Amino acid sequence: MEFYVDTANIEEIKKASRMKFLDGVTTNPSIIAKEKQEFKSKIREIAEYIDGKIWCQVTGKTAEEMYDQAIEMNTWGRKMVIKLPMTFEGLAAASELVKKDVEVNMTLVYSLAHVVLAAKAGVAYISPYVGRADDHSLDGQRFIRESLTTIQNLKAETKVIGASIRGPQTVVDLANAGVDAITMSYSTFEKMFQSPLTDIGLNQFRSDWDTYLRTMES
Ligand code: E4P
Repeated sequence: MEFYVDTANIEEIKKASRMKFLDGVTTNPSIIAKEKQEFKSKIREIAEYIDGKIWCQVTGKTAEEMYDQAIEMNTWGRKMVIKLPMTFEGLAAASELVKKDVEVNMTLVYSLAHVVLAAKAGVAYISPYVGRADDHSLDGQRFIRESLTTIQNLKAETKVIGASIRGPQTVVDLANAGVDAITMSYSTFEKMFQSPLTDIGLNQFRSDWDTYLRTMES
């Protein structure tokens, strides 16, 4: 399973990139806007810390605008994934980009009809938004499982990336569902490490070790 952190914050990226298994970072216009830095220079800065893929979303409204932006963004880093919204215009642009071998992600995927269209277009990834689907009582995890089945039935190669993840247990559930990739906020990533039992056990080991060292010195 590919593993991404959903952030453009350099401090978070520096910390996350210490985990050498990280496959890259994903961003979206809201995440970029929070950073208050020119878009291209922000992506270039991220590329200094990330060996893996950098996901970057187009903001144009027409297929032509999105296509031109995607071609430009694709030059901003060594391994770019270009995100397009799952709309008629977005998929029209994506289908052209696929022909040019650009790695494309359809984002804001909320129905199996979206999944069929994106898989048919041959895009590399689709992002169902689990947390936001749950916010609307749409059962995001069930949607991910059904998306995986639909793609398998179509014999398509499109990968499913679980997005809009609200906590570590959802990461585990999606891993068990066989999702191809997952992206999560830095705070969810950090929470994956947390366990009071690990802390209690480690404190005990440290205290026993200090006692042992003192005993050996005396
Ligand atoms: C995916 O690429 C999106 O950026 C992201 O997962 C959205 O998550 P949110 O619903 O927490 O904003």
